[in-house]
Amino acid sequence: MKKSVAIYPGSFDPPTNGHLDLIARGSKIFDELVVAILRNPEKEALFTLGERRRMLQALTEPFGNVRVDTFEGLLVDYARGQGASAVLRGIRAISDYEYELQMALMNRKLAPQLETVFMMPAEAYSYLSSRLVKEIARLGGSTTGLLPELVERRLREKMAKEPHMFRLNQDAHREEINSAPPPAIPAGRTNGAKRGGQRAWRDDRRAEARRALGSTTKKK
Ligand code: PNS
Repeated sequence: MKKSVAIYPGSFDPPTNGHLDLIARGSKIFDELVVAILRNPEKEALFTLGERRRMLQALTEPFGNVRVDTFEGLLVDYARGQGASAVLRGIRAISDYEYELQMALMNRKLAPQLETVFMMPAEAYSYLSSRLVKEIARLGGSTTGLLPELVERRLREKMAKEPHMFRLNQDAHREEINSAPPPAIPAGRTNGAKRGGQRAWRDDRRAEARRALGSTTKKK
């Protein structure tokens, strides 16, 4: 009988307990499951492709029928090349549905023979996403219980070795602050205000904003 091969595609930045839960479920219903990390040079990732690949390889080692790969371009083309008959995707909540439906139907239009199979992760992971995990880590919250131990360790190591990677949002804010049009000048500061009037007032506001963001970087 023909072997059933399914692709579980995603960004996996980083892999979470929700991803692992889905891999475990998928590995039970398909003969072979390929965890395929998208190579997307346009999307800035926290973990490099190599780091994500190594983490997923270690995490999926206990499953005899799961392997990890990377792909670029259209998912349907990659799936065809792998001899896959299905794409596995997780649906956590209704909010996932619209995007997933659109993607599944578009993939069906491109490759009618390829089925998308949706599975639900354990309830405990229904609110979990890589994006939220990164946001929590960036803002100094605890990610305990959300990530496999190995990933949590790698996240801590990254925070220690590459703290700039966790300041992306702040940098974006800082950029906004530095390039923002001058704030409105309160009455009474326009003419003849001590310390240089409009310019001094604007610099003060920018300095305040930088302090609020915890930045020590000087204006560029
Ligand atoms: O984990 P993500 O970011 O939700 O995964 C999205 C992914 C990788 C499944 C999706 O972006 C994808 O399949 N990209 C490959 C390009 C492609 O085939 N695009 C058309 C989709 S209809």
